[in-house]
Amino acid sequence: MKVLNLKRILFGLLLIISCHGVLYAQLSKSDQVRLDELLGKMTLEEKIGQLNQYTGDYEATGPLRQGGDKVDDIKNGRVGSMLNIKGAENTRILQEFAMQSRLKIPLLFGLDVVHGYYTTFPIPLGEAASWDLEAIERSARIAATEASASGVHWTFAPMVDIARDPRWGRVMEGAGEDTWLGAQIAGARVRGFQGKGLGSMDAVMACAKHFAAYGAAVGGRDYNSVDMSERMLRETYLPPFKACVDAGAATFMNSFNDLNGIPATGNVFLQREVLKGEWNFQGFIVSDWGSMGEMIAHGYCKDEKEAAMKSILAGSDMDMESRVYTRELEKLVKEGKVPMSLIDEAVRRVLTKKFEMGLFDDPFRFCNPEREKAALHNTANRAAARDIARKSIVMLKNENQTLPIDLKSKDSKIRTIALIGPLAQSENDMLGFWSISWPDGDIVSLEEGIRSRIPGDVKLLVAKGCEINDKSEAGFDEAIAIAKQADIVILSIGEALDMSGEAKSKGHIRLPGVQEELAQAIHGTGKPVVVIMNAGRPLVFNWVADNMPAILYTWWLGSEAGNAMADVVFGDYNPSGKLPMTFPRDEGQIPLYYNYFNTGRPSFGDHDLLYKSAYIDMPNSPKFPFGYGLSYTTFVYSNLVLSSKTMTAKDKIHVTLNVQNTGKTAGEEVVQLYLRDRFGSVVRPVKELKDFRKPMLLPGETKRIEFDIDAEKLSFYNNDLQWVAEPGEFDLMIGSSSSDIRLQESFELK
Ligand code: NOJ
Repeated sequence: MKVLNLKRILFGLLLIISCHGVLYAQLSKSDQVRLDELLGKMTLEEKIGQLNQYTGDYEATGPLRQGGDKVDDIKNGRVGSMLNIKGAENTRILQEFAMQSRLKIPLLFGLDVVHGYYTTFPIPLGEAASWDLEAIERSARIAATEASASGVHWTFAPMVDIARDPRWGRVMEGAGEDTWLGAQIAGARVRGFQGKGLGSMDAVMACAKHFAAYGAAVGGRDYNSVDMSERMLRETYLPPFKACVDAGAATFMNSFNDLNGIPATGNVFLQREVLKGEWNFQGFIVSDWGSMGEMIAHGYCKDEKEAAMKSILAGSDMDMESRVYTRELEKLVKEGKVPMSLIDEAVRRVLTKKFEMGLFDDPFRFCNPEREKAALHNTANRAAARDIARKSIVMLKNENQTLPIDLKSKDSKIRTIALIGPLAQSENDMLGFWSISWPDGDIVSLEEGIRSRIPGDVKLLVAKGCEINDKSEAGFDEAIAIAKQADIVILSIGEALDMSGEAKSKGHIRLPGVQEELAQAIHGTGKPVVVIMNAGRPLVFNWVADNMPAILYTWWLGSEAGNAMADVVFGDYNPSGKLPMTFPRDEGQIPLYYNYFNTGRPSFGDHDLLYKSAYIDMPNSPKFPFGYGLSYTTFVYSNLVLSSKTMTAKDKIHVTLNVQNTGKTAGEEVVQLYLRDRFGSVVRPVKELKDFRKPMLLPGETKRIEFDIDAEKLSFYNNDLQWVAEPGEFDLMIGSSSSDIRLQESFELK
């Protein structure tokens, strides 16, 4: 392993030498000259300063390393970037300190603008449920316009970790379990954040994170180790990162986990070979918070000096809050353990981005309080947030047409609505983890959303029933009493905003506290109940799922949460969201995902157990499958036609089908295309999502849906890690979810 690692480091060094000329190819000729001149003037200490990032005081996501005076360090050119500083005024103050440094190199300000800045959008997992790439891009675009007006240059997003384990709290930050969908969404988010390109006034630099395989932490426990084959890594976990490079992501962040025994931060293979080598990534890599120093706890480095050395050798350009670069790099260079060329490469990468952002022309260009004020209170942004929030809602169940609640028609029998549950009046919980505008973000609660909608002659009774996470049932009586007076109950339950997110792994992903008991008590009144579930991850809630007639899964929807939920509840918006992650029945099934391998002993159905790949105490099937979600209308799929039943690697098969809205409500349907390679030189998943369309159909309307199948869609990594499409039989499946396949055909690759 040691020999291999040394080989990898040498390989990396060769790459640096060969990449040197292209690193700053994005810059104008004159900026290249300026950069070279600047680099020529910099002392080693100043160079290392550019690779150093400190946090401000806003929010820490790891242990704070005190020591030294940050302002003094900035004035002396020992800081290249700050995180957790926001606001036109605050960033100006610090930038002024940087302008007092000898070479006046501007600071970069980075922040976790994960799902909105001032206007908060649904959590990324929720947005992924919209399957609406344009809306997702718009959400990132708006976040960038607001953040950039507030002095922020750089967001630590998108998080593109594929995650198959809902115990891992960070599933809320990504796009779910599917690689193909994840890659589309990753690209959309990068394009949204970076807009017309770095240098435009409303662009923030994107940061693809966490490189790599962080989502596969053993047992779903945050920061845990990852061990997987290179084929699995390349096929399942890396494509969303590659999509970020293709979309022009300015930066990458590495990850806390070790991958096959090497911490990602010190991983030559990941950072030098794959990212900076094969993919020719031109931006810079920031470490995750303290992850350089954490290589000591990993048992990979014996002290900070070795941590600094292994980080820079492996291609980590900027040190977020470990401070090992400022403490150790100078010594390492002087002792000849780290070549100066590596420092120069990293500094060049960082400075290139500062030039591209236009900061050398005007370091204060993003520090304009008037612009900030106008950008943060923008009604169009609120409207966009409401639009994607309602698109993110997934209807899991709707028996007896319990939804939508009809308030409009003359014969509506709804006179009294009981709104019950610990999340019914909550505002902050609607934002979810990684929200920035809290607590002054003007958030619409579910109660407000409903109140603004109901006519004067309809009564709304409200009771909390219980807290989100304690054992007291003292509020049940009041809740039961109002349920009894009502024609219908809306029950708002789920997770508080800090129950999914970083360091929020759970062994049990059930409804917290006594919320299930509250649901049972309300069900006991015999009234129809609409359940609204706010959560940052797939939860296990079998009793509710089996007994309540209507369920909306609403994630954490952001500033406009209450309005968006009310839009769906009262039928002003027809739900169209589809699950981006499989929902298990039991934690014992995890990891559970739709694109599994068949095994040599597949179980056909939940009762086919004997000597089959199955559990004897629970089914294999999920509670709700990937791609699943209901609508107020119905769609019929028909007429699947393939332009040919055979193709070569050079041509395509054109696929058409019809989808008809056979109900009475206009609606959108996510038409999903899955493929299966029946036999391969390595085993292939039972199905893989390879495309989708989301047509809007009026009642009775039929649309023709078209797809193209090309060799790329049929390709995978073979045992020699070559990306190949192997000749043979393929199944084509068109479905409304991964387990609701409506039309099927087969074809052959010659
Ligand atoms: C640690 C998290 O893992 C990362 O995603 C985040 O960007 C940094 N903290 C900075 O807040």
